[in-house]
Amino acid sequence: MSKQRIAVGLCGLGTVGSGVVTLFERHGAALATRCGCPVELTHIGARRDRPDCDTSGYNVSRDIFAVVADPEIDIIVELIGGTTTAYDLVAQALEAGKHVVTANKALMASRGNELAALAEQKGVALRFEAAVAGGIPVIKTLRESLAANAIDSIAGIINGTGNFILTEMAKAGRAFEDVLSEAQALGYAEADPTFDIDGTDAAHKLVILATLAFGIPLDIDGPFTEGINSVAPEDLHFAEELGYVIKHLGIAQRVGGQVDLRVHPTLIPRDKQIATVDGVLNTVMVRSDAVGELVLVGPGAGALPTASAVCGDVTDIAQHVARGTTDARPVLGLPTQALQSLPRVSRDDVQSEWYLRMVVSDQPGAMADITRLLGNEGISIESLIQRPPKSGAKEVSVVIITDRASGSGIQRAVDAIEQLEALAGSITMLRVEAFEGS
Ligand code: HSE
Repeated sequence: MSKQRIAVGLCGLGTVGSGVVTLFERHGAALATRCGCPVELTHIGARRDRPDCDTSGYNVSRDIFAVVADPEIDIIVELIGGTTTAYDLVAQALEAGKHVVTANKALMASRGNELAALAEQKGVALRFEAAVAGGIPVIKTLRESLAANAIDSIAGIINGTGNFILTEMAKAGRAFEDVLSEAQALGYAEADPTFDIDGTDAAHKLVILATLAFGIPLDIDGPFTEGINSVAPEDLHFAEELGYVIKHLGIAQRVGGQVDLRVHPTLIPRDKQIATVDGVLNTVMVRSDAVGELVLVGPGAGALPTASAVCGDVTDIAQHVARGTTDARPVLGLPTQALQSLPRVSRDDVQSEWYLRMVVSDQPGAMADITRLLGNEGISIESLIQRPPKSGAKEVSVVIITDRASGSGIQRAVDAIEQLEALAGSITMLRVEAFEGS
């Protein structure tokens, strides 16, 4: 049965929630035209006021579950974050036969399999475009537009806060804490920015992308995860001197019958396209058999870009609801029972070039020992910088880019080098990706 009006309930009035209110006010009339009937934000669940967001025209409940219980509401937008209350809220909404739009990557990565199965069972839509890469329409691209492709790999910058911090530290020489505070003020960072910094946020997003790309169940424990907190300002400077930039990458690729999933800071030659994506911009590069290489770039965080993705999903669902049809497309691209696990590639086996930075006593034979220990593992050196000691100092910084080596091979060499008497402290190890062809 077609509808005269579609009612949307918004749960959560943080940065993205207030962006959704703004976009409904700005584009509500156009959304109604697209859908063939009014699409109205009628009920907002917010545990506290947001002074910069005028909600005087809306029914506002302190109890967010009151929005789910509201019989008028057709579509619930979940923007409260977290995985406990948010799970209960989304599950209750789906159980009640309401469609759900969420921006919650932690929820989708951790409990998306159950929620997708529930949505399919209830015949309702569960959409999550805003969960990955903010304003970039990468979920629809993978789930729908590339359906007739076998996807080989995805690589991208998928945390806006991390990219903003690395860019500002490298290009403006700013301090980490100073840039993080600005990212928080601009609404890029999570409420608790730990997940932006330690790589967890990017790992959640990579899990979602890998499911859509490879037809595997969501597996929150799948990726090897390292954050931008393993990058020191001197790494950014040495990388530049060697012709690279450091980006925090998410990589998902098929390797034989296995999948390699990892997020970590990576040196990339500065003339590569992905190396030029700076600030809060995100990028996702997809390689597949029919299209070849596809690169999407856009704002990865912030109120309006993320709210744009939320409102796109709302419109998509509303177009079905308005016509009385059901949007029964599988939530994760394939029906949940058709998703099939694939074994993970061990990070010990993944080959790459490596960046090593160490502090060494300025004494004869130290460099020969280091190159010998790398040579023992069959690893040769591609470039090397040795910074002379500051006057009076007895230690030098040594930076090495190696040829390709496996994770286990380089780790054995690094463990042996760290035993040398000449070594002061531990060695910083970062992978180098050449991105041939991009
Ligand atoms: N904190 C996230 C980021 C927000 O910086 O990418 C968008 O998911």
